[in-house]
This record gives sequence, C-alpha cells and structure tokens, in this order.
Amino acid sequence: MSKGKILLVGFGPGAKEHMSGRAIEAINEADVVIGYTTYIKLVEDQLEGKVVIKKGMTEEIDRCIEAYEQAQEGKVVALISSGDIGVYGMAGPTFEVLLKSGWTPDSDINVEVIPGSTALSACASLVGAPLTHDFCSISLSDLLTPWPVISRRLEAAARSDFVVALYNPKSGRRTGQIVEAQRILLQHRKPETPVAIVKSAYREAQNIQIVRLDEMKDCKIGMLTTVLVGNSSTFLEQGLMITPRGYANKYSSITGDIKEGEKRGRSLTMGLDGWQECAREYMQAALTQDKKPSLRDVMAYFDMPLGQVLTAIASASEEDPSGEYKAVPVKSDLLQLIQEDAAEWGKIRTVVRNTAGAITELMLNASDFKLRGEWLNIENEHFHLHIHWHKVASAWMLERGDSLRSVHFADDKGDSVFNISLLKTDGEFTAAVLSHYEQIWQRQVNAAESD
Ligand SMILES: C[S@@+](CC[C@H](N)C(=O)[O-])C[C@H]1O[C@@H](n2cnc3c(N)ncnc32)[C@H](O)[C@@H]1O
Repeated sequence: MSKGKILLVGFGPGAKEHMSGRAIEAINEADVVIGYTTYIKLVEDQLEGKVVIKKGMTEEIDRCIEAYEQAQEGKVVALISSGDIGVYGMAGPTFEVLLKSGWTPDSDINVEVIPGSTALSACASLVGAPLTHDFCSISLSDLLTPWPVISRRLEAAARSDFVVALYNPKSGRRTGQIVEAQRILLQHRKPETPVAIVKSAYREAQNIQIVRLDEMKDCKIGMLTTVLVGNSSTFLEQGLMITPRGYANKYSSITGDIKEGEKRGRSLTMGLDGWQECAREYMQAALTQDKKPSLRDVMAYFDMPLGQVLTAIASASEEDPSGEYKAVPVKSDLLQLIQEDAAEWGKIRTVVRNTAGAITELMLNASDFKLRGEWLNIENEHFHLHIHWHKVASAWMLERGDSLRSVHFADDKGDSVFNISLLKTDGEFTAAVLSHYEQIWQRQVNAAESD
C-alpha cells in the first residue's frame, strides 16, 4: 500500500486569489478533503472527483480521527481550515490525536502544515495598516478556555498597549464576552480608540465597520467577525486605521531629518540602554522648571516599576545627576537593616500601599517590627501591620534634597512592598539620626564598590 499523507491546509480568508499556491496545489493533490461544511463550500470548485467529508462545527476531533484513518489507508488527505490552520485551527488537535495514537514524524504517514493568511492580517488589509506595531490576538471563545484566563489576557494586552485582534468575538449564545472585553479594554484605552469590525473578509458577505472603542459592544458582531482594537497611537485618517511604526520617535517627520540624539540603525535614546539616562534627565530638568516630581510621578511617566526607577537613580553620577534624588541599592542584610539599623532612627514613617491605591501610613518605631515566620509584623492595641517579608527581594536607600531620607523595599518584580522614612522634628532631621542614616548609606556604597 502506498504511503498516506495528511495535508493540513490553511486556505486564507476565503477568496481564491488569497489562497497560497501551495494550498491550491495541496487540495488538488488530495484524494480526500475533510472540512467544516462552510469551508468545503469555499473551495467547492476544486473538489471534483474527490471524496469530500463534511463535518459540523463541534466535530473537530472527528475530523482529525477521520483524516488519520484515511491516511492509514494510504490516501492523501487534505484537512482544510480557513485562514491559517495553525491559528485557532485544526493543526493543533490533529497533532494531538496523531501523537496520542503513537504516530511520530518519522512514521509512514507524512504530515505537512500549509500556512495561510490568518483573519487578523486579512481583516487588517481591508482597513489600512492597524497591525504595523506590536499586536496580539485573543479569542473570546470560552467554550474551551476559562473566562478568568481570557480576562487576564485582555487585561495584560490592554495594559501593555498591544493592538488587539479579537477572534470569535460573539455568537448566538456568547453575547456577553464582547461587552466584558470592552469594559476591560476601556480601563486602559481611551473611549475614542479606533476599532475595526470586519465581517467575512474577502467573502461575499464582507462588511466593515470602523467605530470607537466605547461603541464596540453595540455594533453588529457575529461568528465570522474579527475585531481589531487600536493601541494608544493608532489613528484614523481618510477612513484608514493606521498604527504608526514608530518613526516619529526617531525622525522629525516621516521623511524628515533624524531627531537630535538619535542614530540611524541604533536603539532609541529611550531604548534598553538609554531610558534610564532619559529618566535622570527628566528628574534633572524638573529642577529648572521648579517642579518636584515624586517617585510615583517618575514611575507613572516612564511606566516603569519602582525598582527600575530606583536603579536609574542609583546609576546617577556627577555629570549625569537625577535632580534632587540620590539612591543606593542595599547590599547589607535587609532584615538587619529594618530590625537593627532602622531601630536607631526613633519614630519612622512606614508607608504601605495596596494595588487599588489605598495607602497605610504609620508613625512607629522600627524596633517594633517582629519577624513571625514569613511575616514582618507590628502589632499593638491600635493596629496590626503584617508585611509579607518573603516577598521582599531588594531595597534601596533614597534621599531627595533636604526633604527625604527613606528605604524602599521591593519584590522580585521591582514593585514596592513598603517603605520607611525618617521623620523631621521642627522641620529638621535629628542630627544623630541623620548621621546614623548616612553611616548605613556609606556602608551600602562601600559594599557596592567592593562588588
Ligand atoms: C476558529 S477561528 C479560525 C481562525 C482561522 N484559522 C484563521 O487563521 O483566520 C474562527 C474566527 O476567525 C475569524 N475569522 C475567520 N475567517 C474570517 C474572515 N474571513 N473574516 C473575518 N473574521 C474571520 C473570526 O473571528 C472567527 O470567529
């Protein structure tokens, strides 16, 4: 018996001219074509003389098993899928079925995956160039994926300013998912963010709506729709939805001169190596503008966690200062610093923030901190403060002109766990306390130098 073959064919959005040459060839080569009823209709003109097996929407695993069985009989089987067969398509389940059945890539049955243009690129091509910068796709189908997973992905994509392509946005039964997606996206995007709703791209029933994000949920959206949600720089002009490639960061206009400080073919001044210098410049420039950006202002401006901003401050030098800020990473034992060193500082201010923005500010003695298992606790008749000490991964000492002497404790992501700062009496730090703080600071500087 001749060897069987499984061709996993992505035939693109639907129109013949958007099928790849290899996809056409593969369907021609097949003895048997298996697919969802709607997909079979889309390639009907290529099916003469072939065994055609149509399956319903919910019979996906049946389609894979059928393909394997036919290939075991020596047939060339084309399993077809719209778009790219590897994108929310049949390639994954087919390999899963094959591997479970003991098939290996070296076995008699050859498997070829034939890529196609996926819905997001097909839909994008019809509305301009919305995917020219970082983007991601999220399927809103909760048939096989728990909603908390989808919701977390939407939140992460929205927060990270990705252009988002929403697959499977809505069906007869699944109508609430797009409403919830809009709610989550609006927490991080402007209401006027451009959104393209493309139905049946490159098929007879093609329909395009360009709307604002806050209008999305009320639009006509169905099973054959892909929704493209712009990011913070996506704009609409002449009916086209464009996400800039980022040239404006480097050039004064798209065809213009390179901006001062930038270099062709090199990372931006705000690139990996340069952004910390920009952060210091920002803090330094604030001095001349008589502004006093707080640490949180700097974090918000650069959208970077506390640990990264403190690292930028700690890397300052005389030629490249950070405005009023100076910092040094704590190299000594962190528990010793809080329980022994800071205990010399008398009353200190301890600040703990929760992620929703509530701030706890306590005036207390560091000597009151007691480690109980994983927790650094302060308990008295008025309050119980429990700091999850195992979360603390690093600390920085920070000073700001004459106004601030503090220590910031961060977790392994660089997010703040808590901070303590010296208190002033009659507008001044106590000389002995200040001198002790400076000794501890010098200990960190010496340790950093001998590293
Ligand atoms: C199961 S996924 C299949 C995706 C497909 N494998 C691909 O790569 O495009 C089905 C979803 O793809 C999107 N889709 C597929 N073809 C489309 C088309 N021609 N126009 C718009 N959206 C399409 C819709 O979001 C639909 O709900």
